[in-house]
Amino acid sequence: MFASRTNWDLKPNRLSTALARHKSSRRELLDLTASNPTECGFQYDSASIMRALCNPASLQYHPDSRGLKTARQAVSNYYAARGTQIAADDLLLTVSTSEAYSFVFRLLCNAGDELLIPTPSYPLFDFLAEANDVKLARYPLFYDHGWHIDLHALEQAITPRTRGIIVVHPNNPTGHYTKPNETAALNSICSANKMAIIADEVFLDFSLTSAAQPSFAANSAVLTFIMSGISKISGLPQMKFAWLAVNGPEDLKREALTRLELLADTYLSMNAPIQHAATVLLQQRTAFQQQLMTRVRRNLAALDSQLSGQNHLSRLEVEGGWYAVLRVPATRPDEELAIELLERHDVYVHPGHFYDFPGDGYLVLSLITPEEDFAEGFRRILAAV
Ligand SMILES: Cc1ncc(COP(=O)(O)O)c(C=O)c1O
Repeated sequence: MFASRTNWDLKPNRLSTALARHKSSRRELLDLTASNPTECGFQYDSASIMRALCNPASLQYHPDSRGLKTARQAVSNYYAARGTQIAADDLLLTVSTSEAYSFVFRLLCNAGDELLIPTPSYPLFDFLAEANDVKLARYPLFYDHGWHIDLHALEQAITPRTRGIIVVHPNNPTGHYTKPNETAALNSICSANKMAIIADEVFLDFSLTSAAQPSFAANSAVLTFIMSGISKISGLPQMKFAWLAVNGPEDLKREALTRLELLADTYLSMNAPIQHAATVLLQQRTAFQQQLMTRVRRNLAALDSQLSGQNHLSRLEVEGGWYAVLRVPATRPDEELAIELLERHDVYVHPGHFYDFPGDGYLVLSLITPEEDFAEGFRRILAAV
């Protein structure tokens, strides 16, 4: 009855079964995977947000397949404020980054074509690719005083069916940005193999380094798709406002935008109230990002201070984003350790294998966890491991 692309193994894994059991027990839970910003105690300017959603212009329907020009202009202004010029006409609005990925996959890939994704990285790609009949090949990142792309392995993974390279900038959960020399190498690889760059920049603004990090939106050397949205930028995932920017050689860029416009026109998924509120929703980022970065810095400081008293656990360097990767002794599968932390110590963390780390010995902690929970949760991890 059903297409094989949806033949997913939907059996819950051992950790999610243990989590469901823990939740039904109603015991307290220190959730160090918290990543929903609306549930982490940040203050939002609720009055401005609610006012912006009441714009009477929303009572009119003026469909535009790329999204309303005023909303695209608000996104263009966001890039201008970070020093990158991206015209409103080079942007297309989507309800989520995931929808933007789907459009790009449909644009670039015939069924069975391939895309390269980084590993470790975040686990949504497999479903997105399968739903779009795309095959994924993985290129490794390696850690040596910070994370780097294994460019040699990446080139080895290219086949005649490879259509593009996905970069997550900064990556989730490794928290590293693509460096200028890596971008230059990706450009020459893509140019030589007629491939595109697909850059996921949802965490771009959350840099822990002193300088703001450049966006791939300035990359015109090869066809480049850049995606982001207010789910992370302004901490408003419930609003469903994201975008796709296109840069590259002019003829390719125009052709891509024309085709994307027709793909988007088939769905017309953007709604009027959110588009009319876009300027205000994007303005929320200043206050939100300040609060979030304060939280991330404090949690990192608490982590480092607790780590300094011992020498069998360490954390990897993090340049940006919301996560810290913890190195733990690889004496058993990470999943087993995560289950033990949950069942015996009421602490929930993600095991590294969730993000496709190369082996055991990694736990991932969310740095936006409320500070008291984070400090107490980590104290219990240290005591248990
Ligand atoms: C790297 C990355 N890209 C995209 C998303 C999803 O973003 P959106 O809510 O816009 O679909 C996430 C969500 O956690 C993410 O971690």
